[in-house]
Amino acid sequence: MEAHELHETARAIVADDKGILAADESTGTIKKRFDAIGVESTEENRRYYRQLLFAASGMEDFIGGVILYDETLRQSADDGTPFSEVLASKGVVPGIKVDTGAHDQAGFPGEKVTEGLDGLRRRLEEYRSLGARFAKWRAVITIGDAIPTVACIRANAHALARYAALCQEAGIVPIVEPEVLMDADNTIERCYDVTSRTLKWTFHELHVQNVDFRGTLLKPNMVISGKGCPEQASSDRIAERTLECFLHHVPAAIPGIVFLSGGQSEVEATANLNAINQLGGPWPLSFSYGRALQASALEAWGGDTSNTETAQTVFVHRARMNALAVAGEWNAEMEQPVAA
Ligand code: 13P
Repeated sequence: MEAHELHETARAIVADDKGILAADESTGTIKKRFDAIGVESTEENRRYYRQLLFAASGMEDFIGGVILYDETLRQSADDGTPFSEVLASKGVVPGIKVDTGAHDQAGFPGEKVTEGLDGLRRRLEEYRSLGARFAKWRAVITIGDAIPTVACIRANAHALARYAALCQEAGIVPIVEPEVLMDADNTIERCYDVTSRTLKWTFHELHVQNVDFRGTLLKPNMVISGKGCPEQASSDRIAERTLECFLHHVPAAIPGIVFLSGGQSEVEATANLNAINQLGGPWPLSFSYGRALQASALEAWGGDTSNTETAQTVFVHRARMNALAVAGEWNAEMEQPVAA
């Protein structure tokens, strides 16, 4: 694998204001999403729902890559075409979640370390043969009393870097995702501090492990108030603190920063991304949203095949709003209810 192919793949995913659809919910997580709309999480329902998203006409104008889960990468559309081919034929790059989850970190109560390095080289080879051209590994950093510790941040940064090196060896672009959770009651300044320390160690480890920055995408949290914080920072403040933090820690060689939504509402995630792009930086600043791209589409579908087209319209609308935010051209008046 030539390095320039990795660079091209990374750039293509975020070209033309496009972003990423994170549709890589594990079997446990998708069950939670289906439970909320009263749909049974069978393999066929999961396949049908993912097909609804991937087949939506026009999604390819706003979505440059889709992250799949192991089961989904092995599934096919109604006509037997594997999902990776359905996506590739629309010019959308197929990706795969490869970590095996965040587990309690021994000796550090309340903190997690992400696992999945054992056997990863072999799994990446298979995923590439199944059509995956990029991958994702999510590290989870929790804010609380006296946490995160440097031990947690460093263990996760090290694993992210070893994963990224293995991906590049296999001809797969790694998405490096060190997620600082927004579930606590911390201020935006505390988020700034924890995100700074996390990014500092992550890029240190990527550098030590010889990871090629130009063939790597970063998927971070925004610098934002914790959900339980009584004082919620405005979009402008979020944009200013996020850019300040990233300009300190993220090399300009990174071909794209794709934010996660992390529990923001759909419109919040779009408004904040728009504010971030109104300031701008040396990298494309885009999205890799799960919940913030799917919540209303999932609800519109509700498990009923007769709602498929409506749900697709709702999904493409959300994707378009986020691509407009990448251009810094979104405004709240564009959020008209979508006709059925
Ligand atoms: P959310 O946008 O729902 O946070 O999901 C993105 C993701 O892939 C987290 O790993």
